[in-house]
Amino acid sequence: MTLVKQKPIVPPTHINEIMYAMWPAQALKAATQCHIFEALEKNAKDAKEVAKELKLDPRGTELLLDAIVSLGFLSKAGSPAKYSIAATDIGEQARTYLIAKSPLYVGPWFASGEELGKMWRNLGDNIKSGKGVMEVNKDHEAVDIFPKLAEAIFPMSYATAKQVATLLKTDKIKTEWLVLDLAAGSGVWSIPFAEASPKVKVDALDFDAVIKVAKHFTKKYAVEDRYAYIAGNWRDVQIKVNAYDIVILGHILHSEGKEVSKELLKRCFEVMKPGGRLVVAEFIANDERTGPVFPIMFALNMFLATSEGCVFSEGELKEMIEEAGFKKPYRLTPDHVVVIAEKP
Ligand SMILES: C[S@@+](CC[C@H](N)C(=O)[O-])C[C@H]1O[C@@H](n2cnc3c(N)ncnc32)[C@H](O)[C@@H]1O
Repeated sequence: MTLVKQKPIVPPTHINEIMYAMWPAQALKAATQCHIFEALEKNAKDAKEVAKELKLDPRGTELLLDAIVSLGFLSKAGSPAKYSIAATDIGEQARTYLIAKSPLYVGPWFASGEELGKMWRNLGDNIKSGKGVMEVNKDHEAVDIFPKLAEAIFPMSYATAKQVATLLKTDKIKTEWLVLDLAAGSGVWSIPFAEASPKVKVDALDFDAVIKVAKHFTKKYAVEDRYAYIAGNWRDVQIKVNAYDIVILGHILHSEGKEVSKELLKRCFEVMKPGGRLVVAEFIANDERTGPVFPIMFALNMFLATSEGCVFSEGELKEMIEEAGFKKPYRLTPDHVVVIAEKP
């Protein structure tokens, strides 16, 4: 009998991780719904104490606490084990974003994110047919989707937006800056500029239905007296030319697609003062389009949600910005990508 040497069978570890990727998200959502982080905000507690305080099932509570420990948000020590919010960067994220009374609480995102997640259920069929699920780049769908979405995503961008306003030395300005926040949503990218200096004035442009959301946030951050609003589609409304020191495009290019994005960048160039700067926030793929995972997945999300939407690579985005007339585009922040360029 001859022995055939067989290649060992590889276990499906990577496939497993991907297949069960929704479990951590659901566990985190459950922890916020059950107010686990609020219960542990001040003191460490054991599972029984947490369950009693929050009127939860003791067995489920212990299992959920362990799950949240495994995700890094909580730490566990002693016998019986006491749980506390981890004294790490991840624990700090829990304190900032997962406690309901925090101004940056992401609770509403769990609901909106889940709603958007439904778009993905039949991706295979959509790939076969070439048809997405919605077209948020069309006005009537945009006004249905964006008021809630713009509100829910505020916490995702605020920390980076603060960083951008600081890196552009907004707090040191000597003369007034006029900022155009185009497709402003909640105003998350311009509010930090207004917070950094009383010399900043902002025109926030978006559909009327979304401007209500911007008004809510500018009031919450006490900058509403320096905001004016331009309601409507950016293609149709009048915008002052050669007027703005800063023009912000926060997460709008990806839903417009390449050709309309080029048009929009040209429009930004016209309305900006010479010497003004463009701020573009986007999810950006590497030039080979092999990663990072999130922007590459986001491109599929745009396939499902828009007729033209896409994700640009850094090189592609810089090229489009230069083609519109801007000079020296550079990447300001490493993670959440913000590209800055100047009008000569
Ligand atoms: C993904 S949200 C981003 C909002 C905000 N800039 C942010 O980063 O959180 C896109 C925004 O663009 C607005 N928008 C989309 N198409 C638009 C258009 N043609 N004219 C004006 N606003 C538009 C939407 O209403 C929405 O508020």
